Amino acid sequence: MIATDDGLRLTKQALQAAIAADKAAGLIPFFVCGTFGTTNTAAIDDLPGIAEVAESEQIWNHVDAAYAGAALVCPEFRSLAAGIERADSFNFNAHKWMLTNFDCSALWVANSTHLVNALSIHREYFPPAEGDTSFVKNYRDWQLPLGRRFRALKLWFVMRMYGASGIRAHIREHVRQAKWLEEQLLADGRFEILAPTVFGLVVFRLKPSVIAKGDKDVDLEDLNKANNDLVKYCNVDGRLFLLSTLLKGVVAVRVAIGSSFGTQKNVDLVLDVLKESASKVIAEL
Ligand SMILES: Cc1ncc(COP(=O)(O)O)c(C=O)c1O
Repeated sequence: MIATDDGLRLTKQALQAAIAADKAAGLIPFFVCGTFGTTNTAAIDDLPGIAEVAESEQIWNHVDAAYAGAALVCPEFRSLAAGIERADSFNFNAHKWMLTNFDCSALWVANSTHLVNALSIHREYFPPAEGDTSFVKNYRDWQLPLGRRFRALKLWFVMRMYGASGIRAHIREHVRQAKWLEEQLLADGRFEILAPTVFGLVVFRLKPSVIAKGDKDVDLEDLNKANNDLVKYCNVDGRLFLLSTLLKGVVAVRVAIGSSFGTQKNVDLVLDVLKESASKVIAEL
């Protein structure tokens, strides 16, 4: 793992430094994984910078877009992913934010020959394919197991049922809801946003000034405790389930909007429970 910058992004400079340190230690760096939409904050790594380093060092450049990759179905998000066209492989999970039942991850590789060369096996019980087989991809040759579930079928049904326009509408509605929640939290005055709300994830906390007693600055420990309590009260309430996280030592609350059947009503409820729980935390200070 490589340390990130203030925006929680992997940078070209940090990657270069890590590779130099590995080489100095006698190691041979061969793989880098940049992320388009990290789990904690949906941050976007410096994908063009990573691609540049990967190309000059000749290392495999994978882009993990497990969550946010679904947003790329909408043209307006594509500029955020500049640099992915230089990746060796790219992955996103249709089961996260693209209306498909768990599990269904889509992997793209620039050159599948590497996988086939490493993973295909030829045995007597697999008859040789006749004629030109380039039309057929034997995915058993791209992976360790021979057998595969037919996940493509359910993804095909999602595409047929919703169409590109339906999937785009689904993504855009969640982003709208997330931005709405962000606005409401800011308007409340007791919360601050800790990471830009770009997709369906809102990352925030109770503000230090709200937790501070009198004129004294609040300790990080007290601030973190108050925010952990906020999450605890929301979850004990039972009407929603939230997770907190740690961003360089700072406790942050995460609301992830992405459920297939979630509506604005659900987000209204999240806001109500957050406000009520915030009042409880503040009353106990
Ligand atoms: C950025 C990112 N990568 C990977 C994963 C895990 O994906 P998988 O279940 O396909 O391993 C997640 C979340 O589950 C994620 O947010």
